[in-house]
Amino acid sequence: MADPVVYIDEQRVNFRQAKISVFDYTLHCAIGLFESILAVDDRAIHLDEHLNRMEAGRKRLGLKFNYNRRRLSRILQTAVATHPGRVKKVKILLTYGHSPLWKGGRPKPKTIIIVDDHRLQFKKQKLMVSPMIISSANPMRGVKTVNFMTEWMSQHKAQEAGYDQGIIINQRGQVAETGSSNLFMGKKGKLYTPPLEAGGLPGIIRGEIIALAAANGLPCIEKKLKPKDLIAADEIFTTSSFKLVWPVVQLKVERVHKFQPGPLGRAFFDRLKTNFMTGEYKQEIDF
Ligand SMILES: Cc1ncc(COP(=O)(O)O)c(C=O)c1O
Repeated sequence: MADPVVYIDEQRVNFRQAKISVFDYTLHCAIGLFESILAVDDRAIHLDEHLNRMEAGRKRLGLKFNYNRRRLSRILQTAVATHPGRVKKVKILLTYGHSPLWKGGRPKPKTIIIVDDHRLQFKKQKLMVSPMIISSANPMRGVKTVNFMTEWMSQHKAQEAGYDQGIIINQRGQVAETGSSNLFMGKKGKLYTPPLEAGGLPGIIRGEIIALAAANGLPCIEKKLKPKDLIAADEIFTTSSFKLVWPVVQLKVERVHKFQPGPLGRAFFDRLKTNFMTGEYKQEIDF
């Protein structure tokens, strides 16, 4: 295991000495943006898509974070290449900077990049319906802000109850996503996933799965789903940049329902892992 590589505002800093101000408003009020990116060797996977999403989020909220995309992208690639590991997790954090309420003057935002070891695995998981309800009408939904209490609590509550992760539902009782990933179900040769308007994040791997399904003639339908609709699935899996695809083997909707890891989830995981490890983007999948 190598030490994490940390950059703050374009300066490499020893991870033990990496510090930000106690006046940074991100610490007080969780005003900030982040991205979680997978990297292999010196390649940050889908970096442009991640930076596009971050910029779209910044614009949607109408906040200034005062970063330079070209420089951020260059430093991030240097940070990734500097870390000696093969498979790595990368985090970008844009902080708001010191609060005008406390220090006066203009805030000084920070751009933080962290690169650390990571392992890709096809891990079975148990899901339950989270008590943390979201409103799909909230403009912050779909933006990757550091205001992550809802997502974190859904995992915390699930783990307290012996599950791995919570399914986050919206004010209409529809599935939005889980606390750390998007969700798909396979049923009778078709794939289903909640539409983004249900309140989930526009996941980069979600987009990949939809594109791969289309390229392989597998119908993928964006459909509003209630937790009870998931019970009838042949398989369920969740997706994110750090996990790629994880199968669901247990789902609690009123009572406990059991599933087997299915062929679609496994095939998507294998295709994505091979693509990312080799840097060659192939689309064919033998389901
Ligand atoms: C709440 C939430 N939804 C979905 C995702 C999946 O997004 P992506 O595929 O871009 O990693 C994540 C990833 O961290 C997440 O935290």
